[in-house]
Amino acid sequence: MLIDNHGRPINYLRLAVTDRCNLRCFYCMPHEGIDFLPKTHLLSFEEMLRLIGLLAEMGISKVRITGGEPFVRKELMAFLWKISEIEGIQKINLTTNGVLTAPYVPELKQLGISSINLSLDSLDRKRFFEMTRRDELPNVLKTFDAILENDIPLKINSVMMAGKNEEDIFGLVDLAKNHPVGIRFIEEMPFNGEGEKPEYFMSYKKIIETIKAKHTTLYKISDEANSTSYNYKIEGFEGTIGVIAAFSRTFCGTCNRLRITPTGDFKTCLYADSEMNLRDMLRAGLSNQEIKEKLQASILHRAKDGFEAEAGRKDAISESMTTIGG
Ligand code: GTP
Ligand code: 5AD
Ligand code: SF4
Repeated sequence: MLIDNHGRPINYLRLAVTDRCNLRCFYCMPHEGIDFLPKTHLLSFEEMLRLIGLLAEMGISKVRITGGEPFVRKELMAFLWKISEIEGIQKINLTTNGVLTAPYVPELKQLGISSINLSLDSLDRKRFFEMTRRDELPNVLKTFDAILENDIPLKINSVMMAGKNEEDIFGLVDLAKNHPVGIRFIEEMPFNGEGEKPEYFMSYKKIIETIKAKHTTLYKISDEANSTSYNYKIEGFEGTIGVIAAFSRTFCGTCNRLRITPTGDFKTCLYADSEMNLRDMLRAGLSNQEIKEKLQASILHRAKDGFEAEAGRKDAISESMTTIGG
């Protein structure tokens, strides 16, 4: 088992396969988008498979593939099948904006995908457009339907912004009435390429109070180990409601995750700078053993609370979430 310098077991890798995105979410990117990188700067699938293999030997058992929309990357499905053959990897999960995912859902089921987290900030086409700057709600809803039809565990991620999509809370909550889904409302983090926008911030406490004012039977349920969300149920509802206090960062104490960005930066915390670039090491010809030693060394000097450690940087964060993958 892989354990960090604060005694936290590490078993979870988040791998962002692309910096490109077909949406332009207000809380993630500036209007004009970001400069996407040339392909040669990105890890190839072969390079990613080698890294996952090494991390699996070290104790990683869960891999979450993230984007934007991971299916922007060609041949993603074949790559996922190859991950499923890596010894030690027990769970493959996907986080997606759902724009291109729908046609692949039956094959994801065959693959045995553990769960899909789908971003959906509004059920109203106009507000969806305001949030994402693209008119893609119908495609995202096709993905939603396909995931449920194929009986794949589904969580919805909705970033909540005061004065933007807070009126969508109730429509989204209602999805849990007759569907076995987890609807999770997320506090905005200042990863939007432009810095903090405090005027739109909605805290997880405010989100819960808002839901409770209408759904008075809202009650707390137990959370899975390492859950990013605090989870609740409403009497008579099939699904669950959750809040992710991503900005109040209430879950550093049990953080079990590592991150690799599309360009191979290795991050031991969402907020921390990259520890090292794995693509450059692979391309410089380092051996598996050498790379494993460097990974191990990084994991042994993780910040206890990355957000605190980076406090000085927090106002200045101008990175876009699409370059990190969430
Ligand atoms: P599972 O626990 O595997 O379901 O995944 P998740 O909830 O972490 O994944 P998802 O990709 O759906 O991310 C949901 C939200 O949590 C996103 O807004 C992420 O940016 C945020 N998040 C994920 N990991 C961290 C973290 O380490 N720290 C903070 N502050 N936020 C995180
Ligand atoms: N703050 C919080 N969550 C964000 N996401 C993207 N940008 C931000 C942000 N600035 C979410 C997406 C997606 C997940 C991977 O991260 O909505 O669901
Ligand atoms: Fe939106 Fe995610 Fe794309 Fe960013 S990466 S623009 S949050 S869909």
